Amino acid sequence: MRKQLLAAGLSLAIGMGYSLGAFAQAKPETLVKQRQSAMTLMGKYFFSLGPMAQGKAPYDAAIFARNAGYLEVLSKMPWDGFTPATAEIKSAALPEVYKDAAKFKAAADAAEISIGKFVAATKSGNEASVKTAFGDTLKTCIACHDGFRAKQ
Ligand code: HEC
Repeated sequence: MRKQLLAAGLSLAIGMGYSLGAFAQAKPETLVKQRQSAMTLMGKYFFSLGPMAQGKAPYDAAIFARNAGYLEVLSKMPWDGFTPATAEIKSAALPEVYKDAAKFKAAADAAEISIGKFVAATKSGNEASVKTAFGDTLKTCIACHDGFRAKQ
């Protein structure tokens, strides 16, 4: 019974475009869609904190902590979607992403480190350090977008 359920679940999953161990061979179009989806959610949970970070909306420590936690996980997701095979697919990623992969990775690492500090700040409960860490993280988003993303 369990086995049958598992088999049914797997064939369903495969029907949706996934198969075990196939992530490495995912279609370039799929990788682009997935990395953009991760970035879209990063934008949702990070940029929406802007008004609170700037003092334009009442500060809510719980929302900062929740969103920072989401961001920490989401920010690990886009990078393996920038494979050389995706360079031919239309997207907002500039050719520099593939030409200067080391610099792109450094920008991604910088963002992840900053997000780690942001998460730590939200756990400290100190509003000023949360806002500083928010600003520092924002700089890492912008730094990479400036060099690697087509102007919007
Ligand atoms: C290492 C580089 C890098 C970093 C760091 C980075 N981004 Fe991006 N981001 C990109 C690239 C490249 C694209 C375009 C991707 C594409 O079109 O395939 C993008 C696209 C986006 C998009 C548009 C997604 C879409 O297609 O609709 C949003 C929103 C976004 N990023 C938010 C963020 C936020 C928020 C941060 C910081 C917390 C961040 N990004 C950090 C490189 C980066």
